[in-house]
Amino acid sequence: KRVGVLISGSGTNLQSLINATKDPTQNINAEIVVVISNKPNVDGLNRARRADIPTVIIQNKEYKTREEFDLAVHEELVKRNVDVICLAGFMRILTGEFVRKWRGRLLNIHPALLPLFKGTHAQRQALEAGVRVSGCTVHFVEENVDAGAIIAQQCVPVYPNDTEESLTERIKEAEHKLYPSALNLLVSETIKLGTDKKLYWK
Ligand code: GRF
Repeated sequence: KRVGVLISGSGTNLQSLINATKDPTQNINAEIVVVISNKPNVDGLNRARRADIPTVIIQNKEYKTREEFDLAVHEELVKRNVDVICLAGFMRILTGEFVRKWRGRLLNIHPALLPLFKGTHAQRQALEAGVRVSGCTVHFVEENVDAGAIIAQQCVPVYPNDTEESLTERIKEAEHKLYPSALNLLVSETIKLGTDKKLYWK
């Protein structure tokens, strides 16, 4: 399967996807064929370049509307025959039109155990709620933010002296294992998204 990864930042999850898909011992039926960033000069772009993966910068600020920006991203993905999209720290909410076109083939990773702590600053929300465990979730993307069918989750402990940074770091370590394994579930056709928006296992 041909995978496109959308990023906006440091790209540590992108790196974990690059490493896993290039590792022959993991035998994941996926190749990252393009990395698209809505921001120039982010570290994730350098990670892609180091791995010889084509990069494209599509800056949202150059488009008048969300629809036009999303269409530019969509067209780039179609041009490169992408089958599956992984959002990896992509800080834009995609339009319903885009999501509908890619339903069942569009994954996101979120730094909390959904359905808790949706949206931004999920780690801060977890600390404020005083939970003793949090974690990360890979899910299919639906029009409502952080609401699609859950594919995989990993929990991590929250310690009394945790800061947003230390918790973020611990969650990221879990993310870097979870995302490749969830992608593998999709590209191996072990799971799929039903028309009822639920997850189905083979
Ligand atoms: C991750 O914590 C992910 O859960 C969230 O954005 C962050 C991206 O980090 N959606 P990175 O760019 O992969 O390092």
